[in-house]
Amino acid sequence: MRIGLAGAGRIGARHAAALRKLPEVEAVVVADADPGRARELAARLGGGTPEVTALDAVEGLFSAGLDGLVVAAATDAHATLVERAVTARIPVFCEKPLASDIDGTFQIVRAAAGAGVPVQVGFQRRFDAGNAAAREALASGRLGWLHTVRSCSFDPAPPPAEYVPTSGGLFRDCLIHDLDLIRFVTGREVVRVMAVGANRGDDFFREAGDVDTGSALLILDDGALGQVSATRYNAAGYDARLELFGSKDSVIAGLDDRTPATALPDGDQPKTPYGGFMERFSDAYDAELRAFADVVAGRRANPCPPEEALEAFYLAEACELSMREGRMVAVEEVRR
Ligand SMILES: NC(=O)c1ccc[n+]([C@@H]2O[C@H](COP(=O)([O-])OP(=O)(O)OC[C@H]3O[C@@H](n4cnc5c(N)ncnc54)[C@H](O)[C@@H]3O)[C@@H](O)[C@H]2O)c1
Repeated sequence: MRIGLAGAGRIGARHAAALRKLPEVEAVVVADADPGRARELAARLGGGTPEVTALDAVEGLFSAGLDGLVVAAATDAHATLVERAVTARIPVFCEKPLASDIDGTFQIVRAAAGAGVPVQVGFQRRFDAGNAAAREALASGRLGWLHTVRSCSFDPAPPPAEYVPTSGGLFRDCLIHDLDLIRFVTGREVVRVMAVGANRGDDFFREAGDVDTGSALLILDDGALGQVSATRYNAAGYDARLELFGSKDSVIAGLDDRTPATALPDGDQPKTPYGGFMERFSDAYDAELRAFADVVAGRRANPCPPEEALEAFYLAEACELSMREGRMVAVEEVRR
């Protein structure tokens, strides 16, 4: 397979490394809006097999004879790149979020469905072994009926100030992972949300109209309650946990000797707490691209189609609205 990579930034470099581990990938072709970045990544990874080469222009990806395209560019470039690829009948893996807003996400859903070309969205938590086991435990009936599900995304340190104004805000940029995961693991829909946010950290969050910490109460369509929370200030380390509490049993995914929390009164601090999402979800990033290669080869169904990303985006949008207006929001209010 000849796989293209649009975007040679943080996550693009991680995806390039994952692509190189796949036996059926013969070549990786990288392009970035900043051609120097693409060249630098190709030079860093270029030797050996598969070969990694850089293009001078992103446009070149669409005439490079690709079997698949990984879109890891900045969020505002996703919609255009995905539409170009599906028009050229190239299967796509696209990082979350699919687009910066509901209209853009909707447009991709339509374009992908119209062309009949797979677009797999990068919700890597679906591929985390703990999350998958939690889903199975619930589906098997072992937990009984679910009364509470909680998911958190605690970053050890804030992103650069310049990332914040175009990030889409904490709910669309970060908590969207937790919102997708709760749908995926429970198999239920969220019908109402009540969200709040806080600014106790750097001023640049407030200045961008964003919050540095946020939380939402979710009401699921079977009556179970959910809670998602995120912060940009969890200096103990990166904490992404999923907790399912049922009438018969409870399970936690993401609780191990690297979880950045100390059990009191006598517990020890973890020696090597997770430093960030790259470490915590390393295996999941590999697994989602393994799945993409199988989708490209026609060996498996798309594990995360655009319709799923649209549902997660509706939830993030409902949370934003709830936080802004200080009221409970029915997800139907934002659904198109
Ligand atoms: N799934 C995850 O856990 C996860 C983690 C990090 C980032 N992301 C997502 O991945 C995307 C990239 O994030 P990042 O942290 O790597 O950002 P980054 O700023 O490190 O890299 C983005 C790169 O995209 C390039 N770019 C911008 N417009 C482009 C275009 N039209 N064509 C090609 N390249 C273009 C930029 O020059 C830059 O090199 C974002 O959408 C982000 O939400 C997902």
